[in-house]
Formats: sequence, structure tokens, C-alpha cells
Amino acid sequence: MCGIVGYIGDKQAQPVLFNCLARLEYRGYDSCGIAVAGSEVKVFKDAVRVKALEKVTPKLAGTLGIGHTRWATHGEPSRVNAHPHLDCPGKICVVHNGIINNYQKLRQKLARAGHHFVSETDTEVLPHLVEEYYDGNLEMAVSRALQEVEGSYAIVVLAVGNRELVIARRDSPIIVGLGDRENYIASDVPAILDYTSRVVYLEDNDIGVVTANSLQIKNGGAEVARKEHKISWTVEDAQKAGYEYFMLKEIHEQPKVIRDTIGGYVAEGEAVGLADSGDFDLGDVLILASGTSYHAALVGKYIIEELVRTPVRTELASEFNYCGCTSPRSVTIVVTQSGETADALKAMKRLKGEGCRVSVITNVVGSTASRLADRVIYTRAGPEISVAATKSFLAQLMALYWLALPYSKIDIRRLDSLITELRQLPGKVQQVLDREGSIAECAKQLAKFDNIFFVGRGINYPVALEGALKLKEISYIHAEGCAAGELKHGPFALLGKEVPVVAVVGNDNTYEAMLTSIKEVKARHSPVIAIVGNGDGEIEELVNTVISVPKVEPIFSPVVNTVALQLLAYYTAKERGCPIDFPRNLAKSVTVE
Ligand code: F6R
Repeated sequence: MCGIVGYIGDKQAQPVLFNCLARLEYRGYDSCGIAVAGSEVKVFKDAVRVKALEKVTPKLAGTLGIGHTRWATHGEPSRVNAHPHLDCPGKICVVHNGIINNYQKLRQKLARAGHHFVSETDTEVLPHLVEEYYDGNLEMAVSRALQEVEGSYAIVVLAVGNRELVIARRDSPIIVGLGDRENYIASDVPAILDYTSRVVYLEDNDIGVVTANSLQIKNGGAEVARKEHKISWTVEDAQKAGYEYFMLKEIHEQPKVIRDTIGGYVAEGEAVGLADSGDFDLGDVLILASGTSYHAALVGKYIIEELVRTPVRTELASEFNYCGCTSPRSVTIVVTQSGETADALKAMKRLKGEGCRVSVITNVVGSTASRLADRVIYTRAGPEISVAATKSFLAQLMALYWLALPYSKIDIRRLDSLITELRQLPGKVQQVLDREGSIAECAKQLAKFDNIFFVGRGINYPVALEGALKLKEISYIHAEGCAAGELKHGPFALLGKEVPVVAVVGNDNTYEAMLTSIKEVKARHSPVIAIVGNGDGEIEELVNTVISVPKVEPIFSPVVNTVALQLLAYYTAKERGCPIDFPRNLAKSVTVE
């Protein structure tokens, strides 16, 4: 998704802007640009990587500037469509995340008034509209312009000759990083971690005026105070630490992530808060999420239904927004790593509008979801840079285990043993990581195929979905996750020696049925790779390759099985020479519907 940066202070803006943009690359983009204001505003932009643009940009003098990474929505990736955008005299300059729904109407109106447009973007109406109202008071001009805008936006606006940046948000995040006689602007915390850990988040319909020494925020014309947050993430957290890719680093961080996430709950007694509210006595549970977080939500369904014995409904946030309905008495949980996914936020707003108390499981302190929620359960995965979610998924599972365990209706001795084993999971995950070499060997074979099925049953069905998602997004191999029991209802038609099947085999009551499914698959000549809890002779006889993972309580098998699948996806993508951290067309934080 698009990324925004801005700087105002006494440093030269150009290197700061490029550095901040480089830190936003992980969000996914197809073009980028910067604008630096001196006696005039100079814009350099193109459909290239940040490093490439930095190389060809001449030295620009100026201590005030804005920058952008664009993920095309209106108009193809090109120099002219890249941000920043200018009005025609080149006085007003804007970067924008989001979508202006009524841009065509505004464009026609502005064109009739003599404005000349050069790009196909919705954004370009903004500098022209601001220029219409600009008489030296930039805040006022932006405020009046935004009254005409329908849609979502996070914007930064600069005007030549004006030592301030004006920022605004509606349904798209923007933050100010506070410095000493300087201030930074970004759409996302990692952009500014090199410079500051003091952050202020704007709320919807806020308009802020940022100078080197001040930040003033208004909402509806009245000045408002927005809290300063201290970010605990460090620059090192957001660096590769010697790993070739962020994804591999993040996979390897998972033992620590499990410890940190559980340790945080123990220290802060977070589960107790939910108990006090009595939420779970109300009955049914609804969990909403997107993508990988949705797979965590599906695992959560199995966890809660088994431990708490209460029905759980899981929905894709994007679909819930069209056809779902919920009673205000439901426990509602939204799972979102970034806390900025547009579909999840829309679902949250709808739920709150229906009178629901909404809990959110998120990794980002101060994210929009965390501020909308009635209750926040933070995961402690640290910044996840690779577009493909890995450690945040495991951290979400930890949150869901921790959420369910205190309400468990299972025998106390089994509960104690589950809690003991939960604390041992970092060691079990490490054992999977220690088997990296053999998984990489297996990936060499997998990389030759164009179509692959992932199957599982019970709690490992969503794990199969997640394995397929991970593989397809980073290796570009067509991969489909499927409930093993559903193979015979259609997918059988596609099986054969060119279509391998990865079977995630649980050591629970699904085991016998999984063996049957594998036999059926073998009878159709598909090669089978099985992910299996340690030492099972029968499966080894049956399948082509076994990836062994440590034996754990069945309810925890998604943890170890997922790590094996993450490594399998990573090494398959590496074998195919894919740009693992930044897969084509994908974005880390999906802030449009
Ligand atoms: C896949 C992936 C995405 C996200 C999805 C939701 O690896 O990362 O599918 O899981 O975009 O994002 P969040 O969790 O930020 O709401």
C-alpha cells in the first residue's frame, strides 16, 4: 500500500526522506517520489525502486519536504502518476494515501475553472483544490478543500514559501514523530524509527499543522490534544540482522515472539480484564479478520470451541461487511496484525454501530483498530516487515490460546498440563527451525511444480489454508488450501503426478481420516509431502516425503506445523528466485477496501 513521509527541521530533507521511504518499502509499492521545498518546490518521482530514484535525484537544498511510495489504484504505475502531485503553478504539493471517491466530479469542476491536469490519479485534484482556496493560510485552504472531498485520505500538503506542513486524515493512518526542533510525518511507525520513538496518531477528520517546533491539531475547527505514544520497537527490530530476507529473520524470531507475547500477558494480567467484563458468559463468539489473520481466527475457533465449549463464528471481514449480522450480545473479536486493514476497520465500525463491545487482537500499539476497540489484546511480535505474515500469525495464536484458557471447561489437570506445554512451545518451535536444512531440500522438489494442494483436517485445516497462502504469495506457485475431506468433492479432478499434495497431519482424532485421504491422493498418483508429529512409521511408508515436527498436544499442533510450512514456502520461493519480502502486487497493510 502507499506510504507517506514528511520532514521539517534543520536537517537537509532529501536524505531523511529517502531513508524514511526505504523503511516503508516493505508495505509494497510500484513507484515513488519526493518533493523538497526551498525557494521553489522540486519534485523527483518515477516508477522505480526507492534506491534507484535516490541515485538519479540531484542534490536538493531544503529542510522541508514530503515523500511517497505509491501502490497504483487510479492509473498505471508511471512517473506522471507517482506522487507528490503539484498544482499547475507548482505552488502546492501533496502526497496522499487512500481513495477520493468523487475525484471525477471535482476534476471536471476544477478543469472548468482553468486547472490543467496531467495524471490519471484521483490525488491530483487535491493540490488544485487547495490552490483554489490558498491565500497564504495553508491550514484554512486544506480544511476548505477537504470539505468537498468524499473518500478516504491521509495527506501531507506543503506550499512554497510556507514553513509548515499541513496533514489530515480520514480512514487512513498518519502519524507525527516528535523530534528536537524537528518533526517527522509518516503513514507507518517503521518509517521514522531511525529518528524518534515519540509518536502522535491523528484521529479521523483531524487536521494538523506541523512546524519544526510545534504540532497543532484541530478537529471540526476546535483544537484537540492527541496523546503522545512511546514506541518500544527499535531500529534493530526493523533490520535484517544478517538474514538474507526479513521473512527468514521473522520466522526465526518466533520462539522469542511466543515468549514475549505470553510473558506480556502474564506480567500484565491481560486475560483477567476480559474475565471481569464477563464477556464469555454471554455465549456465542464472533471473530473477524482478513488473510493470514483470518486463518489465525479459524484456528481460534477450534481452540475456543474445544476449551470453552462455546460456539464460535468466524467471518472474513470483507464479507461480513456485506452479508453478516450479529447480535449485540455476541463477544466480538477482530484480529488484525497491522490494525489498519480497511475491511477489518469497516467491520469494527459496523459492529460498534450495532452496540457490540469489540475486542481487537493487534500487533501495533496506537493503530486505528486499537483506538476503535473497547478492549485491546496486544501481540508482541515486534515490527513485521516482510509482506508475508509469519511471526504475527504465531503471536495471534498465542493471544487466542491465552484468551481461551482462563474460560476453559476442561479438567483442571489437563488445563495445567496445557499451560505447562504452552510455555514449552518456544523450544518446540526451535526444534522445527533446527530442521530447516531438510525442509529446504524438500522445497527444491516442490519448486518445480505449478499447482499444489495443501490439505488438513480439524484444527490443522486452517493451517493448510495458511500453508497454501504463504506459498502462493511468495513463490507465485498456484497453491490451494483444502479441507482433506473435501478433496473428493471436486479437487480430485485435478490430482495427478504433476500436482503434489502437502498433507498437514494432526496427531488427534483426525489422524485415521487423514491417512485415508492420503491413500486416496496416492491412488491418483499425486506426490505427497506430509507434515507429521515425530516418528510415525505408517505415514512414512505411504508418502513421498515426511517433514517431521516435534510431537505436541494436538491443540498446539498448528504452532509447529505452521513454522514448517513457513520454511517450506520460504525455501520454495528462494529456489525460484522470487523477491521474497516484497511479492508483486501485494502490500503489507491493506488500507483500501
Ligand atoms: C499474508 C498477509 C495478509 C494479511 C492481511 C490482513 O501473508 O500478510 O493476508 O494477513 O492483509 O492483515 P492484518 O492482519 O494487518 O489485518
